[in-house]
Amino acid sequence: MGNRATFATRLGGIAATVGSAVGFGNIWRFPYITGQDGGAAFLLIYVLSVLCLGVPLMIAEFTIGRSAHRNVVGAFKLVAPGTKWHWVGVLGLLVAILILGFYVVLSGWTLRYTALAIVGDLGVNDFSTFVSDTYAPLFWTLLAILLNAFILLGGVQKGIERASNIMMPVLALLLVILVVNSFFLDGFKTGMEFLFVPDFSKVTGQTWIDAIGQAFFSLSVAMGILLAYGSYLGDNTKIGKTALSVATLDTVIAVLAGIVIFPACFSYGIEPGQGSGLVFVTLPEVFSQMPGGHLLAVMFFLLITLAGLTSCISIFEVPISFMEEEFHISRRSAVIYSCLWAMGLGIVCSLSLGIWSDFTLSLPKVGTPDHDVIFDFLDHLTSRYMMPICALLTSLFVGWWLDRDIIHNAVTNWKTDSGWYLRPLLWLLRIVAPLGILVIFLSGIGVI
Ligand code: ALA
Repeated sequence: MGNRATFATRLGGIAATVGSAVGFGNIWRFPYITGQDGGAAFLLIYVLSVLCLGVPLMIAEFTIGRSAHRNVVGAFKLVAPGTKWHWVGVLGLLVAILILGFYVVLSGWTLRYTALAIVGDLGVNDFSTFVSDTYAPLFWTLLAILLNAFILLGGVQKGIERASNIMMPVLALLLVILVVNSFFLDGFKTGMEFLFVPDFSKVTGQTWIDAIGQAFFSLSVAMGILLAYGSYLGDNTKIGKTALSVATLDTVIAVLAGIVIFPACFSYGIEPGQGSGLVFVTLPEVFSQMPGGHLLAVMFFLLITLAGLTSCISIFEVPISFMEEEFHISRRSAVIYSCLWAMGLGIVCSLSLGIWSDFTLSLPKVGTPDHDVIFDFLDHLTSRYMMPICALLTSLFVGWWLDRDIIHNAVTNWKTDSGWYLRPLLWLLRIVAPLGILVIFLSGIGVI
């Protein structure tokens, strides 16, 4: 493998993977999807998806990445030479570069909210006016991209690993402070009931597809990230334990974000199912009415910004490592090209919420198709279609096709560990994940 980068320490690798997993998926996307899909029933299906589909797929991606020590496409080429399996890697790469488009815009929003919180101006803010503006969101998007570029140019150890080591503990601390604050809100009980008492009458095929899409998005599965980060994991890292710890932390953080958001919604009369603006609409309102709200607002938006940043760099890492290794260009050039792409797609996504909002696209769906602006279209296209397909193919590949020795060595760390979970893992990857994803996917698009 020559001098290819790895994470310097086992903990650093875990922090970076948690950093990738914990992002807007937990703090922006999880609360609003849970709000739209009826609360606790969605949460249950989500947890089931994380355990039965998410964790096995994380291990599968780590297995391919760490065995090959290559980028998302190169890794498939190395472990399955002369086959067409590398197209699964191409699909993961495509997911990452499409997600980048709206992720950098979101990063820009959070930067702006952090700045407003710092100058104490959140109360007068209006989310929909800001996001539909032509220039202001683009300025913040550009700033977010520059921040990412700065970290990414530092490379794997000095950039990604160091940033994650510092940012993840800070994030956890900030979240705990906000959760404690939630206990004292009037709507705490109603918010907790919404999040934890299921009403199964609200469950539809769409709920299931949203749950697996959200699980994959949140765990960074099926977008090439865990393959790329897996390729930087040292040989002594226990990938099963890492996957389970990351998934547990990621889920706990999503639930904590729910405990921050929903009691606040019920305390201040804000509709939890209002969609993607939820945190940006709810929280400025909450903070403006709360004693000590100014400080909490700064903390909260700083928290989302940090979470988004450590995830955004991991999404960027997918095309960057691909270009470096497959096109043999310098890391610096790969960072520049990726940032230019992100800015281009970011401009399209941002304008789709303003002057281009009349332009909508529909995804194939039985019944009435949704008409989405490009920002939402990319989110739905990736999470409801491309990620389930990529995950399905990855589980088939590792479950049925990949050389047994490669999986055995990955799971047992070259026979230094018991690898007791190999059998259940294979069972999950061969049967449960492919069938589960297929049925949920078909029911989500209304075919069954
Ligand atoms: N896993 C990342 C997130 O949750 C992409 O935001």
